[in-house]
Amino acid sequence: MTQPILSLRGISKHFGGVRALTDVSLDLVPGQVTALVGDNGAGKSTLVKVMSGVHRPDTGQYLFEGREMHVTGPAAVAQMGVQTVYQDLALCDNLDAVQNLFLGREMTGPWWTGFRVSRAAAERRAREVLKRLRLESISLSRNVGAMSGGQRQNIAIARSILWEPKVVLLDEPTAALSHSAAAQVGDLVRELAAHGLAVLVISHDIHHFVLDNTDRIEVLRLGRNAASFASGTVTGEQVVNAMVGGNESINRAG
Ligand SMILES: Nc1ncnc2c1ncn2[C@@H]1O[C@H](COP(=O)(O)OP(=O)(O)OP(=O)(O)O)[C@@H](O)[C@H]1O
Ligand SMILES: [Mg+2]
Repeated sequence: MTQPILSLRGISKHFGGVRALTDVSLDLVPGQVTALVGDNGAGKSTLVKVMSGVHRPDTGQYLFEGREMHVTGPAAVAQMGVQTVYQDLALCDNLDAVQNLFLGREMTGPWWTGFRVSRAAAERRAREVLKRLRLESISLSRNVGAMSGGQRQNIAIARSILWEPKVVLLDEPTAALSHSAAAQVGDLVRELAAHGLAVLVISHDIHHFVLDNTDRIEVLRLGRNAASFASGTVTGEQVVNAMVGGNESINRAG
């Protein structure tokens, strides 16, 4: 098996009296989609925020490419090659896809143009990226406010890819989406892994999204590792049982 690119070992994190995470370990492997599942409050978002540098864990190790990192914050983690897409997406509805893709990193022309944003260059790069991700059907010039939930989600993911990350973390990318829109996001997630990225995706849609689009399933329950499955070898019922603490004997299957 390929070596993990990002590993957490024995991570604990509390907020006042709430133990959000206790002794949690997780590996993300290049070319694989890992699902992070668990009931509400199980600690999934907290774990992603530890990985993205938003939260500093109380204890535990953060390894990137086999080396222990002392993560100082989100900027350092992004610099290292780990991008996070949060549920609110932070898209500007009154801007089009190209403008949203390059938000905060406007492409500039050479000095004799006065470094003005080069729309043509941005459009070329946007078209290239969307094509690579098989998202050619997305309009470059429509305001994203007028787009479907699935298209908006895919633009937010495509934007994270412009930074050429090695790891992408997605917190509930399909939460507000219809079944077909979620399937589009599933296609994109698999496309990213096919390009060699390590992808982590939080989802509550075990029976469709998780089983259809991921390679491994890591289950958190009450802030602890509860089970780990190869997606191809489990049923939705087995995963849900592990989430809610049902039949303990099957939790280590796969
Ligand atoms: N900033 C915070 N301050 C205090 N408590 C927090 C904070 N963030 C999370 N928690 C608590 O930590 C626990 C884990 O929360 P977390 O958001 O990680 O769960 P989750 O698995 O993402 O749940 P959901 O499926 O509802 O999104 C919860 O009890 C939550 O209330
Ligand atoms: Mg959450």
